[in-house]
Amino acid sequence: SSHHQEDLVLIHNVPMLKSIANNWEQVEGFQARPDDLIIATYPKAGTTWVSEIVDIVHNNGDVAKSSQAPIYYRVPYMEFFMHPEKNIPGMRYLNSMASPRLIKTHLPVQLLPKSMWENKCKIIYMARNAKDVAVSFFYFHHNIKALPDVGTWEEFLQKYIAGKVSYGSWHDHVKGWWKKRQEHPILYLFYEDMKEDPANEIRKLMRFLEKDLREEVLEKIIHHTSFQFMKKNPMTNYEGLSHDTVFPFMRKGITGDWKNHFTVAQNEIFDADYARKMEGSGLQFRTEI
Ligand code: PPS
Repeated sequence: SSHHQEDLVLIHNVPMLKSIANNWEQVEGFQARPDDLIIATYPKAGTTWVSEIVDIVHNNGDVAKSSQAPIYYRVPYMEFFMHPEKNIPGMRYLNSMASPRLIKTHLPVQLLPKSMWENKCKIIYMARNAKDVAVSFFYFHHNIKALPDVGTWEEFLQKYIAGKVSYGSWHDHVKGWWKKRQEHPILYLFYEDMKEDPANEIRKLMRFLEKDLREEVLEKIIHHTSFQFMKKNPMTNYEGLSHDTVFPFMRKGITGDWKNHFTVAQNEIFDADYARKMEGSGLQFRTEI
């Protein structure tokens, strides 16, 4: 019902959920530790997927250990404070957590707490193509009652193009983090690459985390983190979070679903705007995997 819905508030010009904006001093003042490992993404870019992979690699391939708690306890959501109904931990839990910590954030690069840079925390960023993110984000707003009312697909898409959604512009987000990797240890991954060749991407992750796991362990990780497996796994599927059971959190997990949603006219407008915003960024996304 509508009375649960949150408004967006501008924080340094980025629209954020009111529950986050209201606690912004705590987000800015977050105390990172040198051995924190940060997983940063724009919403719906494959955060849960890469979090599960990183947690298992971190546990040296021990999937039983990673199956002991829901993903949001193993990789808490840093700037998150409250959920009106569900017991999902955020900042407070992180502050009391033993090291080494894995930390999820959706913040754009310019809003990351200073102490994460000062402590030179390793960061894994995952990007997903703009159109599939739009579709996934649209369904997510209909799943989660607390999120703002974004209206129809057409209405949502206009807001998304204009960056007037939670966490702001997708374009600014992916470009900002892409640039930052020139001066900070950031492993920049793509959802589409992970989908096409998980072994290759997980090897990159292992190198970044200085983990040397055997090939059979790698195969086990790929199986355990496949969409089919994670959709059934109560430790990763956010069962009970979704309001809408037709489109659960683990919805489709594919690349190119945007083609089932964008009209020809919407696609033309999107592409023209995209070309303008992404020009010269050096960032290339694939949507045909
Ligand atoms: S959130 O709320 O921002 O943390 O959501 P996030 O986890 O980033 O994104 C959810 C989408 O990722 C898909 N997903 C996966 N795809 C492929 N493989 C695996 N294992 C996987 N796990 C989650 C999930 O289905 C959402 O995308 P859509 O397109 O909606 O299916």
